[in-house]
Amino acid sequence: MEDVPQLAPVILVIFGITGDLAKRKVLPALYHLCHDNLLPDGTKIVGISRRDIAKEEIIDTIRLCVTEQGSICDKSVLNKLRSWLSMFKLDPLIDDRYEALKDYLQTIEDTAGVCLDRLYYLSIPPQVYDQIVDRLGNHGLNQSCAHAKAGVRLLVEKPFGFDVKTAEELIANTERVFSEEQIFRIDHYLAKETAQNILKFRRHNPVFSSQWNGQHIRLIHVLAKEQLGIEKRVAFYEQVGAMRDLVQSHLLQLLSLTAMEMPKELTGTEVHAAKHAFISNLIPPNPRDGIVRQAVRGQYASYKSEVNNPHSQRETFVSLVLASRDPRWKGTIFQLTTGKALDEKETVIRVYFGDDDPNILSFRIQPNEGIDIDLIIEQPGFAHNLRKVKMNFSYSTDFGEHSHDAYERVLVDAIRGDKMLFATKDEVLSSWHLLQPILDAWQAGASDIKLYANGSQGPDISHLAHFLSTKLSK
Ligand code: BG6
Repeated sequence: MEDVPQLAPVILVIFGITGDLAKRKVLPALYHLCHDNLLPDGTKIVGISRRDIAKEEIIDTIRLCVTEQGSICDKSVLNKLRSWLSMFKLDPLIDDRYEALKDYLQTIEDTAGVCLDRLYYLSIPPQVYDQIVDRLGNHGLNQSCAHAKAGVRLLVEKPFGFDVKTAEELIANTERVFSEEQIFRIDHYLAKETAQNILKFRRHNPVFSSQWNGQHIRLIHVLAKEQLGIEKRVAFYEQVGAMRDLVQSHLLQLLSLTAMEMPKELTGTEVHAAKHAFISNLIPPNPRDGIVRQAVRGQYASYKSEVNNPHSQRETFVSLVLASRDPRWKGTIFQLTTGKALDEKETVIRVYFGDDDPNILSFRIQPNEGIDIDLIIEQPGFAHNLRKVKMNFSYSTDFGEHSHDAYERVLVDAIRGDKMLFATKDEVLSSWHLLQPILDAWQAGASDIKLYANGSQGPDISHLAHFLSTKLSK
């Protein structure tokens, strides 16, 4: 029987409720949480939109998205959501309606007869975070109705800034209005089932924990392949690219869970500190020749025409290899690879033990969540031939099909104020510091962007790990 978190009712204010992210992730997650009775009666959802949007349009969107994801949409769940949802017209970049929003939230609480925790979810392009946060502060919306800040949280989506400078500015600006305690920086990859398991797996299986170092592990590769291209996110992607979209956040977070020092207690504070220490210890490639030899950037063939920019140098594929200053990881290579419009959707963390990789431990993040390990055995027969086989654990086989989507977890944890799954400002800044030299070098035109065919495996990256291992062994 699953432990069901007991949540208190909140007001969830969603900026960008008509946007792509809300459609694909946030609204379906709310539907499923409501379906599983994980959100309490009395929950309120306030959808912010610039135009007049009838709430029925949002309900229709939920119906459609849930059905498209292959679930049957339950009418009674939609009715419940309908009773919780209201729409509020506001242009987030214009001051004049924020005071009215404040009154509106107050009215909801007056009607409920209690002060509710408030969550402002910025499901919008990151360029406008600052301006919204400023306005929330200027109009006293960073305080709950009891004038206590404790019950107010801000949920923001990555990328948190575009480089070191903008990330520092964003952090400083947000902190003028919300304390670090109140800010929840979403990295939904941390909420995926297998990612949740990495620390527990490492801690409770001594057969692996005793080998978790550079003496035994040659390579740790975090690989996130996507089949989809950029779809309709032209402006966003032209500005961001694969490095900022996935490597700076999801991939570095998954890697740090896999390789950070194991803290005494698995509390949010200790885990955040250990991840931060791990990322800070990674060595940025040397700008002279390291960047060209340790990082590959690529672009899928139809990208330029999709964004209608024949000169675009925006990368849709990245692979890079890094080493660590931490003596524990002397000799190990860390590789991060991601790309769009590739041959398949797959996210996996592979840990390669031994020189010729006899044992590869794989954390399968998606699809077919689970963990497996390659072993060498002798093949039956008289020839004494060796063969690689897999020992395999799969969530669906052992626990059935039902599991909560990452966005459901993100919302539950934000509502209950559990910060474990969210990135701290230190983690965010150390990631930017690590990647900044590569971003700068690419901007200056160092290394060509390699074109790859849509639906292929992306550009050749086989030389990267080889280069670094030769360098490390010197
Ligand atoms: C998002 C990125 O954070 O993650 C997208 O902005 C990417 O570009 C998406 O497609 C992938 O998420 P998932 O959960 O579908 O693997």
